[in-house]
This record gives sequence, structure tokens and C-alpha cells, in this order.
Amino acid sequence: METVITGVQPSGALHLGNYLGAVRPALARQGNGHAIYFIADYHALTSLPDPAELKTRVRDIAAAFLACGLDPQKSVFFRQSDVPEVQELAGLLSNVTPFGLLKRAHSIKDREAKNLPINQGIFAYPVLMAADILLYRASHVPVGKDQLQHLEIARELASKFNQRYGEVFVIPEAVVGEAAIVPGLDGEKMSKSKGNTIPLFSSPEALKKLVMGIATDSTPLDRPKPISGTVLDRLMEAAASPSQYATFTEEAAKPGVGYGLLKGMLLAAIEQHIAPLRESFAKYTPEAIAAILADGAERARSIARPVLRDARQAMGLG
Ligand code: ADP
Ligand code: TRP
Repeated sequence: METVITGVQPSGALHLGNYLGAVRPALARQGNGHAIYFIADYHALTSLPDPAELKTRVRDIAAAFLACGLDPQKSVFFRQSDVPEVQELAGLLSNVTPFGLLKRAHSIKDREAKNLPINQGIFAYPVLMAADILLYRASHVPVGKDQLQHLEIARELASKFNQRYGEVFVIPEAVVGEAAIVPGLDGEKMSKSKGNTIPLFSSPEALKKLVMGIATDSTPLDRPKPISGTVLDRLMEAAASPSQYATFTEEAAKPGVGYGLLKGMLLAAIEQHIAPLRESFAKYTPEAIAAILADGAERARSIARPVLRDARQAMGLG
């Protein structure tokens, strides 16, 4: 049976791109074999030095996943740092990790190119990520293209370890999502770091303001609107069903249909995803989230401990 693991960094509020591109496809796999989801707070330490902010973001991401349909009974859902075994496994794996392999990682190269400081946490990020996956003997890992190299590293460390010490780890496979990249309000890829997002849990008023503010050209009302390839068009294509999108393009071609109306159609398409989630999001109190994550951590540890024990024994440790 497959074991699917998904890790999400609590690095900012979830946006529509995360939802359509990652969260929804990942949750769709619940019920196929074992599904494990975790909030990667150890990983977030590489970019988020504020303790209070880290805690808040962990809570927000947890509530967002639960509101989006993560079922903590069907799946294992936990916070990475509640299973400190993963750090010990990362330490063990570091003995089969060539320096050159980490030096070639994109994350390091990017930082080198930008002359940004590189600490050991960032340098060893792929080793900790490998430990996240191997500790649960995950067979499949849904990832965006940007994470493929990390997954290759995890596979390499698992096979090096297995070759040297015996078959302890499952070699994980990447599952690359088919979902299209959702554009941000400025037409670039929607991304937390670019400040161009539609936050998933924005209020109806805030959402309306964002959508109505999308830049459009000044085609007169009595002319067909040349929307093809615009931000409005691409967002609609990402958020709407095929039949809603077909209606949208038909409307745009009609003289007399203004951008206000077309934006209204986009707003309705986005609301259709978000509206049912808002209420559920608000329902998860900090206490409820803490209880769910504590239960998940217990279940995660009961999977992790025997695997860590196998790895230690294979290496000749006590
Ligand atoms: P961000 O760029 O906002 O920081 P992350 O890099 O943390 O997002 O990505 C989290 C997940 O969401 C990844 O699986 C990524 O592939 C997906 N994702 C991020 N932005 C988009 C987008 N604009 N369209 C589709 N998927 C996205
Ligand atoms: N590095 C991933 C990201 O930035 C998050 C992550 C950490 C992860 N550990 C993982 C994803 C293990 C999948 C499996 O998006």
C-alpha cells in the first residue's frame, strides 16, 4: 500500500495558488493508502526567526488544512517538531551525505548567487527533508517542480544508506502535480514572497476589493474585450470550471459587457471555493488545533520510532 507524505512550510498565509496547485491535489489523495501531512516548522527556522510569529503561522496553516478538508482521523496530521526523532535521523543520514551533493542544491546556489548568508540549517535542509520522508517509509511525495531536486537527494541518501547498511528505507517517488501555475494579481506567479496573492481566507469584502482592483485595459464598453492571456483571463481559467470559463469567454466577446461584469464572474468563481471554507476555518480554536496536532504527533511517533530503531541498529549504534 502506498504511503504519501506531504510537508508544508508555515512560511505565510495560504493563497489561492497554494490551494489550487498544492493543497487541493494533496488532500485528494486522502484515502488512497496512508496519507501523512505535516507542518514543517523545523524547516521554517531557516527563514523565520520570530518565535511568536512561527507559532501563529503553524496554527494558521493547521486551521487552513483542516478547513480545506484534511480529516485527522483518516490521515496522520502533525507538526514536524513534535517528532524530534526526525533530527536524529537527519544526523545519521549526514554520514551518507556527500558535501558536493548539498553544495549543488538550488537553494544554496541561489543564495550564493545573491550573496546571502548560508548557515548550516540551510545547507543541511535537504538532509532534514530526506529524513522527513524516510522516517515514515513514504513511497510517494507530491511536490512542485521546485522541490524535485530535494526529492532526488532524498532518494540518493536512501539508496546509499541501504547499500551500506542493508534495506532500511523505502526509496520514495516524486509525484509531480499537473495543476497549472496560478498567476498573481500582477501577472507573475502568485507567491507569498511577491506580495501579489489572493489570500485563501480573506473576507468577502477584501476579496472583492482585490478582484475589482485587477488591472484591465480601456477598451470601450461597446467593443468586445480582448481578455485572452490577461491576468483576469488566466485567473478565471485557474479558478472556474470549464463550463464557467466557456461562458466567461463568450461574455467577454459580447459588446456591452464591461470589465466590471467579467470581474464579478471571477469573484463568484473564487468565492465558490472559499465561501464554504471560511466558516470551517474560523471554527478551529487554538485549543482544538493543539489537541489535533498532539494526537497526530503520537501517531506519527509510533510510525517513526521503529524506523529510527532499525536505522540505528543497522549502523551498529546502541
Ligand atoms: P510561495 O511561492 O507562495 O512561497 P510555496 O513555494 O511555499 O509557495 O509553495 C507551496 C506549494 O504551493 C507548492 O507545492 C507549490 O508548488 C504550490 N504553489 C505555490 N504557488 C503556486 C501558484 N502560483 N500556482 C500553483 N501552485 C503554487
Ligand atoms: N521543502 C518543502 C517546501 O519548501 C517542504 C517540505 C519539508 C517537504 N519536508 C518535506 C515536502 C517532506 C515534502 C516532503 O515546500
